[in-house]
Amino acid sequence: MSEPMSPSGQRKDDHLRLAQEQQTAPPVRNDFDEVQLVHHALAGLDADRVHLDVEVLGHAWSAPLYINGMTGGTERTARVNRALAIAARETGIAMASGSVSIALDDPSAAPGFRVIREENPDGFVMANLGIGRSGDEARRAVELLGADALQIHLNSVQETVMPEGTRDFSRWPHALEEVVAASPVPVLVKEVGFGLSRRTLSRLHDMGVQIADVSGVGGTDFARIENARRPGEDYSFLAGHGQSAVCSLLDAPDPAPLLLASGGVRTPLDVVKSLALGARAAGVAGVFLRAAYDGDPEHATTVIRGWLSQLTELLALFGADSPAALSRTDLLLRGRVREFCELSGLD
Ligand code: FNR
Repeated sequence: MSEPMSPSGQRKDDHLRLAQEQQTAPPVRNDFDEVQLVHHALAGLDADRVHLDVEVLGHAWSAPLYINGMTGGTERTARVNRALAIAARETGIAMASGSVSIALDDPSAAPGFRVIREENPDGFVMANLGIGRSGDEARRAVELLGADALQIHLNSVQETVMPEGTRDFSRWPHALEEVVAASPVPVLVKEVGFGLSRRTLSRLHDMGVQIADVSGVGGTDFARIENARRPGEDYSFLAGHGQSAVCSLLDAPDPAPLLLASGGVRTPLDVVKSLALGARAAGVAGVFLRAAYDGDPEHATTVIRGWLSQLTELLALFGADSPAALSRTDLLLRGRVREFCELSGLD
């Protein structure tokens, strides 16, 4: 008989199932739909001249796309991690693990994370940990995966909806400073789908954080996921709370950490829009989970290959020979995004 699952393990499996249920076809509309790239019919390039590589934290990424932090720690989630790790290896894109907290507390959960490095020994791999862990735990998280960077997630909305979540966020800035000082690799701070405001990004910059993923609202919604998991009180009023990746990028201060975009990136066109709005690369969680949900590495690889080839085509279409050249794209902002800019006093 197999061991009964721990509460943390059960939570990981629940997250996977509930996040997968949020993946719909056609995808939900979000703020990326409020960004229009002006079409210039004579501006296109030869796709053979387009290259996708970008520099991130001193490393050359072969594309401005990565698999964002999701999962690990149970048998079910290890299969998904394995499929994603093989897809990352085959397509050459970067990948993050889900939070390794569970493996720091229970070594039997570690293999479901190690598989990410075992299947992809040379790729760019990020370990992921929640804010609030010590500098020593941050070092252990990096060691577990032989990670090239450490994602630290800020998830106060999720914690609020989780019955077992913390209600004391007051130590977070101090805890983050400790991790930044202790980590042997660069620390990437991210949200989990509620966005990073101008004030937060400024604060991260002042703390010496080099890179941040704004991870905004409009894709996987952890307020809804945690609300579906909890008995009793209803927190569904927090669904949809937060800023989108689009608004977070538009509102970003200067100086700021190097910016990555995620949260509601549904298609290669959303990647292009993220880059045009100033992100160095875009992260995808929910949509790539759908591709790897059955644990089939070939399917996940085919989906990500498709994204890369469509990204190349889109850059040619928009007259950009590199991701950086997309910063010259003409953009129109509509609806809610425009209103956000007006209310925030942005030009
Ligand atoms: C996540 N996400 C996440 N983020 C994180 O920093 N640590 C984690 O452990 C997890 N776990 C997790 C599980 C599952 C099943 C999903 C789908 C997502 C959040 C993720 O990295 C991302 O920030 C959000 O999901 C928004 O991106 P998408 O899903 O809209 O592309």
